[in-house]
Amino acid sequence: MTFKPAAWPRKLRSQEWFGGTTKDAIYHRGWMKNQGFPPDLFDGRPVIGILNTWSELTPCNAHLNDLAQRVKHGIFEAGGFPVEVPVFSTSESAFRPTAMMFRNLAAMAVEEAMRGQPMDGCVLLVGCDKTTPSLLMAAASTDLPSIIVTGGPMLNGYYKNERVGSGTHLWKFSEAVKAGEMTAEEFVEAEASMSRSPGSCNTMGTASTMASMAEALGMALSGNAAIPAVDSRRRVMAQLTGRRIVQMVKDDLKPSDILKKEAFENAIRTNAAIGGSTNAVIHLLAIAGRVGVDLTLEDWDRCGRDVPTIVNLMPSGKYLMEEFFYAGGLPVVIKRLGEAGMLHKDALTVSGQTAWEQVKDVTNHNPDVILPAEKALTQSGGVVVVKGNLAPKGAVLKPSAATAALMTHRGRAVVFEDIDDYKAKINDEDLDIDETCIMVLKNCGPKGYPGMAEVGNMGLPPKVLRKGITDMVRISDARMSGTAYGTVVLHTSPEAAAGGPLAVVQNGDFIELDVPNRRLHLEISDEELAARLANWKPSHPEFTSGYGWLHQRHVQGADTGADLDFLKGCRGAPVGKDSH
Ligand code: FES
Repeated sequence: MTFKPAAWPRKLRSQEWFGGTTKDAIYHRGWMKNQGFPPDLFDGRPVIGILNTWSELTPCNAHLNDLAQRVKHGIFEAGGFPVEVPVFSTSESAFRPTAMMFRNLAAMAVEEAMRGQPMDGCVLLVGCDKTTPSLLMAAASTDLPSIIVTGGPMLNGYYKNERVGSGTHLWKFSEAVKAGEMTAEEFVEAEASMSRSPGSCNTMGTASTMASMAEALGMALSGNAAIPAVDSRRRVMAQLTGRRIVQMVKDDLKPSDILKKEAFENAIRTNAAIGGSTNAVIHLLAIAGRVGVDLTLEDWDRCGRDVPTIVNLMPSGKYLMEEFFYAGGLPVVIKRLGEAGMLHKDALTVSGQTAWEQVKDVTNHNPDVILPAEKALTQSGGVVVVKGNLAPKGAVLKPSAATAALMTHRGRAVVFEDIDDYKAKINDEDLDIDETCIMVLKNCGPKGYPGMAEVGNMGLPPKVLRKGITDMVRISDARMSGTAYGTVVLHTSPEAAAGGPLAVVQNGDFIELDVPNRRLHLEISDEELAARLANWKPSHPEFTSGYGWLHQRHVQGADTGADLDFLKGCRGAPVGKDSH
């Protein structure tokens, strides 16, 4: 840790709008004063943007206005001037074709909102899956002092006295209905029990994973990730975050001071320890691309390889985020990584302390939720990266959510050309498939869907489910919800729509998955593969205008984070020309 705080007081960028007695200054201040702000708020104190992803169509973030008020309290207490700014909210549950298509649009819009307006620092108020990475990407590209506070997870769900997890039980119950083990009426009855309070998914899905990633990267205060949305301590966290950002601006503590390679390696190991979502792979690669850190898929495999999954949460384990919080939450996990020599202890965080300083004295209150290493869900919990002629640039698999017996498997490919083809065929009793086959889904990557939908965990055919089989090897260029599970190979790169080898797999081909040797092989000759690729023609839908057009032309592969090519890098926050 080599950070040296800047001298204070000094002139901040917001004074380029609000300072002085020129016509322009009076123009900027005057309009703000229509809200009843007293004159001393414009005296050069830090102006903090509370970037709020509240939306009633992003249900996981629908309580953020309440937290924003707590953030404001904290900013005022510390001598700052809070301004609440609504920003593009990407709802995982509602946005079509997929929220992921708009992560980059949100990041671009928020970046410009930060740069173009009088803000000296920002509180990123987020919750649902894509809101966290999109705002982190924006903060990384502007490099304005920024801190995350998340909305927190929902309370535990219960149905018939059993825990039900967001998403995880949606997939489980859906398969149970298909297998004839649950009625449609019971499925509807279970629906309300999954979402019984404000907050994000209560499993270790992508939202909880990304909240954990923000904390492990050092971009949120310690303990933020697991506090339930409705717990009063979530409000305390919001207020403390508001206080902290003011000091960060005074110190000029920026994302680039925190988001070093070491921080990303800490986050990757944390992801393995918590059994986190495969979506974190794409998001961390994209965030790293914004700060110029050279992070690769190989780093994911290397850093996560020997990290045991010790957090016993769905979808990999048994409990939910509420119990994780009661057990001590993420600080306990980070402490365990530190004790095992798997943490860059000196990594700087937004608190001004190192990663180790802020967790070294915490206690695990429930060893059945945060397990001892010898009882880990899997000893090698890191996201696995497989490569081969079917995925020259890599594909990922989450071992803690997979079936051990399927980690080495050879099977006959049953191919679906796109998600509509899958939906049309999967319930057909005449489909030539059994549990030894490998399901292959094409055209669901960043360009192909477009947006890379969470459809990689294709439901199994009913005739296989009725045999009591719950898992098969599935391969696609899609993503998978962090709440999902199964032996699912995802993010196959290059994607089918970009002419990757996945595009030319045919029914009846044999595929070999060999996770221990990190291999994904299509059993055809090099000549045959080259001939098929030479004859390939794209079949995915193409936008001719609008944001979809921009996205399809500029989105990069999942192996580098699926950012838009022209958004990579840190552009800083220079004060632009005044138009008045
Ligand atoms: Fe929003 Fe899961 S759908 S957090």
